[in-house]
Amino acid sequence: MTDRTGPGGLRMAGTIAALTADSSYVRHARRRDVDRILEVIGTYVARHVLLARTRDEVLDEIASWWVGDLNGEVVGCAALRDFGAGLGELRSLSVVAAAHGRGLGESLVHAVVREARRRAITRLFAITRNPGYFARHGFIELSIDEVPEILHADRVPWSRRSGAGHAMALDL
Ligand SMILES: CC(C)(COP(=O)(O)OP(=O)(O)OC[C@H]1O[C@@H](n2cnc3c(N)ncnc32)[C@H](O)[C@@H]1OP(=O)(O)O)[C@@H](O)C(=O)NCCC(=O)NCCS
Repeated sequence: MTDRTGPGGLRMAGTIAALTADSSYVRHARRRDVDRILEVIGTYVARHVLLARTRDEVLDEIASWWVGDLNGEVVGCAALRDFGAGLGELRSLSVVAAAHGRGLGESLVHAVVREARRRAITRLFAITRNPGYFARHGFIELSIDEVPEILHADRVPWSRRSGAGHAMALDL
């Protein structure tokens, strides 16, 4: 068998693996992430999967945004909207196609859920074209009538939204 121990006794194969391994993690968004956040959600906005967000809107709420980082590049994001009275909404969950399947979506959901619990939110909503993904994370589907009025009022009017979407909720 080939000896993979290099100079100084380093395990060369392991070292190379460590140097080439992808690094991905989720962190709080910073103001300088805003343009990249808009790019990440932009692809899905164009496909009517996500609602558009303005630059000012993201900047105003930057403390409630998280980003997924893959090898130093922002490739995903999610936001928490806190309506008070124990109601919250997970918004704008997205990961660029090239970074799918690495668990970044899940980590973003977890980051938002953790913060929602910290804020004593007891019901977290997600209005989505992609109910299957939220169901994987314990959300259950509700009828649109069960979505509190405050969520409708805060968004683009329901009737103007393309495809409307499924109402999902997670009780915390
Ligand atoms: C949904 C999304 C955020 C998932 O991101 P991701 O980083 O690939 O997610 P994860 O790596 O945590 O999970 C991937 C797993 O979820 C599964 N999955 C993805 N979409 C799914 C769906 N609609 N229903 C069920 N499972 C789904 C994948 O098949 C994969 O399964 P596996 O782990 O068994 O192989 C990403 O696909 C995305 O940005 N989609 C477009 C935007 C969107 O729909 N956002 C949610 C609505 S607001």
